[in-house]
Amino acid sequence: MTYRPRRHASWITFLVPVALLAPAGAVAQARQIPGITADDPFPGGCVDCHIQYPDRNLDVRFSTLLALWEREVSPELLARSKASTEPGVTLQGMHPETKPDVIKDIPGACVDCHRRRSDEAPILSRLVHLTHLTGGAESVFLNEFKGECTLCHKLDLKTGAWSMPSGPERAAGG
Ligand code: HEC
Ligand code: HEC
Ligand code: HEC
Repeated sequence: MTYRPRRHASWITFLVPVALLAPAGAVAQARQIPGITADDPFPGGCVDCHIQYPDRNLDVRFSTLLALWEREVSPELLARSKASTEPGVTLQGMHPETKPDVIKDIPGACVDCHRRRSDEAPILSRLVHLTHLTGGAESVFLNEFKGECTLCHKLDLKTGAWSMPSGPERAAGG
């Protein structure tokens, strides 16, 4: 059979030589993105990661965080809260008390209230992006979790639709 060149080179024409050039045993591989090219260790988003870590003596459940913010807000968090609040709004520097139901639907219930009260509360998407995606070397989320969008935003690989899971805080974790 004679070789007939195709008019349009396909992507495979580029990929195959690259794979052949790679050292023996190496496999051309896409970047490991949770939920896209790799397993997603936190399919439930916020509530799967904000749990208790007894081995690190760490409790970052939202009930614990809210109770803390109702007493005091760190200067770093307050600065980020101000930066994510509509201009002209003055923050109190303490979180208002929330109903027990709030921790049954995270981030749904947080987003609802933060949107409804945007004349007195930070815009949650902006605050959450600032708290997870800024801070460089100091940031646990950027370093340990590689700043992956897909740990919160989930892509449906069949339909291409993005969504965000929301659910109850887990009683225990670790
Ligand atoms: C995969 C783990 C992970 C997921 C998922 C996650 N977080 Fe976080 N979150 C962290 C880490 C780690 C920090 C500490 C900040 C840092 O140093 O990176 C943090 C910090 C925060 C803070 C700031 C706390 C403070 O006192 O400064 C808020 C608020 C927060 N998260 C809310 C959320 C919400 C809401 C969601 C879901 C939309 C979410 N997080 C999803 C890991 C996660
Ligand atoms: C009852 C409405 C309401 C609910 C529900 C709510 N928030 Fe808030 N939140 C506010 C208001 C109002 C502020 C501004 C407080 C201030 O003036 O400092 C705020 C501020 C914050 C801040 C900035 C720090 C602070 O306390 O000032 C964080 C972080 C925060 N909220 C996270 C959350 C998360 C996460 C949830 C869901 C688990 C949540 N909030 C649920 C109303 C709410
Ligand atoms: C820690 C959780 C978390 C991470 C990580 C995260 N997001 Fe978000 N994102 C949110 C939340 C919460 C909202 C608000 C959802 C709502 O309002 O219903 C949001 C909303 C958005 C929106 C729409 C609102 C807006 O702010 O314009 C965009 C766009 C977005 N995210 C992009 C990204 C991209 C790109 C990345 C990665 C570089 C990323 N997000 C990483 C939690 C996260």
